[in-house]
Amino acid sequence: MKNIYSNIFSFNKKTLEKSVTSLKKGNVVGLPTETVYGLAGNAYSKKSVNKIYKLKKRPKFNPLIVHYSNNKAAENDVIFNDNFFKLYKKFCPGPITFVLKRKKKSKIKSSVTAGLGTVAIRFPSHRIVKSILERINFPLAMPSANLSMSISPVNAWDVADEFKKKIKLIINGGKSKIGIESTVIDLTSNPKILRPGIIGPEIINKVLKISITKKKLKIKSPGMLKKHYSPGIPVFLNQKNFNKKHAFITLGNKYKNNKNCFNLSKKSDLKEAASNLYKTFRKIKKQGFKKIYVVKIPNLGPGIAINDRLKKAAN
Ligand code: TXA
Ligand code: MG
Repeated sequence: MKNIYSNIFSFNKKTLEKSVTSLKKGNVVGLPTETVYGLAGNAYSKKSVNKIYKLKKRPKFNPLIVHYSNNKAAENDVIFNDNFFKLYKKFCPGPITFVLKRKKKSKIKSSVTAGLGTVAIRFPSHRIVKSILERINFPLAMPSANLSMSISPVNAWDVADEFKKKIKLIINGGKSKIGIESTVIDLTSNPKILRPGIIGPEIINKVLKISITKKKLKIKSPGMLKKHYSPGIPVFLNQKNFNKKHAFITLGNKYKNNKNCFNLSKKSDLKEAASNLYKTFRKIKKQGFKKIYVVKIPNLGPGIAINDRLKKAAN
């Protein structure tokens, strides 16, 4: 793919240096993670954090996830508990975010947490963001690198498409393997999943007992706003028949390769399907379709996270 924006760089010693310098100066950088691409800035700098909100056109009440290289690096910012350590041991670094109580002496800017008394923290496993985190002495506030309400980017070109030349530096780390955002789990009291992800409730349940939040928690996790992750065209769920005029997202081998059929996984592998979801939305939109029909996706394992994003896209 050609980079018409000239702000996408491959990763090497020079661009590692460039990223570190840029972040230290308070600028924002588009970075790959194993889940989706993020828009990173210094979580201890008001200037950086303001830039993130402004670029994303994100409402100030929607807090950001703070990324660290390891738990030690986070110990001055949040109060750990046993549940955190159990999950950390099992899943980190990886695609899971923990909501914990904020320490009074924490240097995290209150705008990062939207003034809440809690902080969402994550330890990404992608080698590029890890090597950057290891080179700086502040954590990275890093929402998905898309405009608010839009779908998350899964490669460097998606990030460039979202922000054009408004960001100067995007590191190309290939396609994000997981392809949907991390699982968000609230550990401030009884563990609750706020946003499902590839690490699903049945996997977490093996480590500790959890409840899945049902209806509205008062903006407990604003990413749970009903309309979110929107591809920008109407989406219709649980469809059985396709219509030649519209895009049809399918799963498995029941539907033959039609021009307007987009298969998330021929093997009906839900993990593969999750990794193809946002990529497929973008592809469909680029091809000029005006509506998206989607087959019913089984609501188990990664299917729970897929259905969560689909519901929000359809709202
Ligand atoms: O996979 C990911 O988590 C990606 C990559 C870049 O790390 N990041 C990501 O960030 O998805 P974002 O900002 O797009 O979504 C963060 C979610 C939002 O739903 C937000 O409301 C929630 O985390 N969140 C952040 N801080 C919170 C807090 N203190 N309490 C509850 N929810 C919080
Ligand atoms: Mg997001």
